[in-house]
Amino acid sequence: MKFLLASSNPGKLREYRELANDAGVELDEMPNFREIEAFDESAPTFAENAAGKAIHYSRFSAATILADDSGLVVPALNGAPGVHSARYAGPNASDEDRIRKLLGEMAGKTADQRRAKFICVTAIARQGRVLTIASDFAQGLLTERPRGKDGFGYDPIFLFQELDRTYAELTRKEKNVYSHRGKAFRKMLSLVAGS
Ligand code: IMP
Repeated sequence: MKFLLASSNPGKLREYRELANDAGVELDEMPNFREIEAFDESAPTFAENAAGKAIHYSRFSAATILADDSGLVVPALNGAPGVHSARYAGPNASDEDRIRKLLGEMAGKTADQRRAKFICVTAIARQGRVLTIASDFAQGLLTERPRGKDGFGYDPIFLFQELDRTYAELTRKEKNVYSHRGKAFRKMLSLVAGS
């Protein structure tokens, strides 16, 4: 099995390379990704965005394209940042800017209101048709300040309760075992293998 990942996010690419390696499947960056007109990820659900991305980019390649739409959902903020996780603090903002904005929104919230979950939907498509879609999530709590150096995005403020460490304090192997992305990817592979 071989996939090309339709993403320019280096954090996602690194995780997918490790996940594919552990699962014994081949995965690479889509070589012409940046030359293709970007898919407009404006749908209200992760599933629509993941499927839409996979369909769109698979029209520009003969390979099987893997797309991922993921993000952090905070019920106390009516689901924000949600599908807008990547652009939460504007189009040119950094991970630090997004974390600062989110922690600002969380100021004064109770422990219960700090509950959050990461969601990941993976979709694979070939020649404009979706073959499989799979999703999973990880439950956590938002910390009051960033902790840890590894990972990407909101990892330093996502306390993964099962291990009592933030995603950025987990080893790469640990994150891949427990993360929303790791679980969704493995589910996707088992669906493909069974079809
Ligand atoms: P998109 O799927 O490309 O729209 O972007 C998802 C965004 O959600 C990323 O840019 C991150 O900000 C955030 N995100 C998704 N998965 C993770 C993760 O595993 N750790 C930290 N942030 C994540």
